[in-house]
Amino acid sequence: MALDSVQATPAATMDKIVALAKRRGFVFPGSDIYGGLANTWDYGPLGVELKNNIKRLWWTTFVHRRSDMIGLDAGILMHPKVWEASGHVVNFNDPLVDCRTCKSRFRADHLLEDKLGIGDAATKSPQEMTAILQEANLACPHCGNRTLTDARQFNMMFDTTIGPVSETGQKVYLRPETAQGIFVQYKNLLATSRVKVPFGVGQIGKAFRNEITPGNFIFRVLELEQMEIEFFTKPEESAAAFEDWLAAMWTWVRLIGLDESHVRVREHDREELSHYSSRTLDFEYDFPGTMGWKELYGLANRTDFDLARHQETSGVDLTYFDQAANTRYLPHVIEPTFGVERTFLTVMLDAYDEEETVDVNGKADTRVVLRLAPRLAPYKAAVLPLAKKPELTTVARELFATLQDELDTLVDYDETSNIGKRYRRQDEIGTPFCLTVDFDTLEDGAVTIRDRDTMAQQRVAIGDTTAYLRDRIR
Ligand code: GAP
Repeated sequence: MALDSVQATPAATMDKIVALAKRRGFVFPGSDIYGGLANTWDYGPLGVELKNNIKRLWWTTFVHRRSDMIGLDAGILMHPKVWEASGHVVNFNDPLVDCRTCKSRFRADHLLEDKLGIGDAATKSPQEMTAILQEANLACPHCGNRTLTDARQFNMMFDTTIGPVSETGQKVYLRPETAQGIFVQYKNLLATSRVKVPFGVGQIGKAFRNEITPGNFIFRVLELEQMEIEFFTKPEESAAAFEDWLAAMWTWVRLIGLDESHVRVREHDREELSHYSSRTLDFEYDFPGTMGWKELYGLANRTDFDLARHQETSGVDLTYFDQAANTRYLPHVIEPTFGVERTFLTVMLDAYDEEETVDVNGKADTRVVLRLAPRLAPYKAAVLPLAKKPELTTVARELFATLQDELDTLVDYDETSNIGKRYRRQDEIGTPFCLTVDFDTLEDGAVTIRDRDTMAQQRVAIGDTTAYLRDRIR
């Protein structure tokens, strides 16, 4: 479609992303036909592609392309002692407040922050939070009654039982972080791969958290996926490794195409630090609407906390023998951690754009376009015969098969509806290039390649299309 004018508008809101995600098959509400199960989501045909592309890029960047990194895929269920040693049984809590009237549940620190404007709420004990809530005589934000309970600690680990549910059954937890699998396998990893300190282990996998206040679409969910690195260093080199990983995380932010002005780094103060961390930085993203700056990723110095606790609890020597220096020590650990869902969400938010356009007939139109980095886009290209005529569809299908084969990636094929509508659909799902086979193709053996972002069109010989796309997708 020829255009007279194009005007960009500031666009992304959470509502628009949720609607597009459902409409185009990225993310569906979980158990939808039963009215949904709150805060569970399923990834549709395009969502699973975007998610896999994120995970693949992460794995290539941090595991395959680095000689100091190896991979692991540990189980979700682990020996319950793991979570005693790691401190999660005692420390992995959120402060909870109930309303006695309407039974709504709230995070006490969130109530203090959002309703009473107390900035450092997370650093306060449940007793301190209770005192502040009572002093303010705060009403339940849901029903308005002044019937909030005292704040109490609530452990966020889901548990289940192995074997029959009786005294013989063994209580186990669904892991709340993937990290512990790496610490528990650290000795086997050292023994079977030729890595030497400093080295890191990357892992992608599910984790589960019984969040009190999940929500904001896929921002805070109960079942999440983490991409985590535990990087083992000499104790005296951990501060330098922390800085190296800070830089590497910024490189990742750029790689996935986020606008750097939407991301900032915030240092935890001492009271906010997790029980295992001596220093933590949060990468925060500026979410639209009332959400504002919220955690996207984390970078922590876990010192030798985890290895020391597992050594003590298991009785297994986890020290590292440094041959060159002829010494033994427990390595310190730097942990860059990335949530898959938050990557997915921020990538969608940043990519979403609307353009007010006017076609040659003067008709106003809004073009929704998902400006995803090509390496993340579900489809890298779409082949569109101009009309559903056998002479065009035969050539188009052949080109489609060749591209899928030669690019070894997902390509779409669409011969339905008019070409304008098909372009709009591909814009909305983020396909960077559309290849149109028209009647001229039968004469000149070339197709029109339309660029998603600029809508510029270029004539390219069919034989050159693979090379053309390969250059641009990378
Ligand atoms: N191993 C360290 C750890 O788990 P965390 O800050 O609790 O640290 C790491 O979680 C990352 O996992 C976060 O930065 C975020 O991206 C993601 N994440 C945590 N809880 C989440 C939830 N309930 N829903 C979605 N993503 C979550």
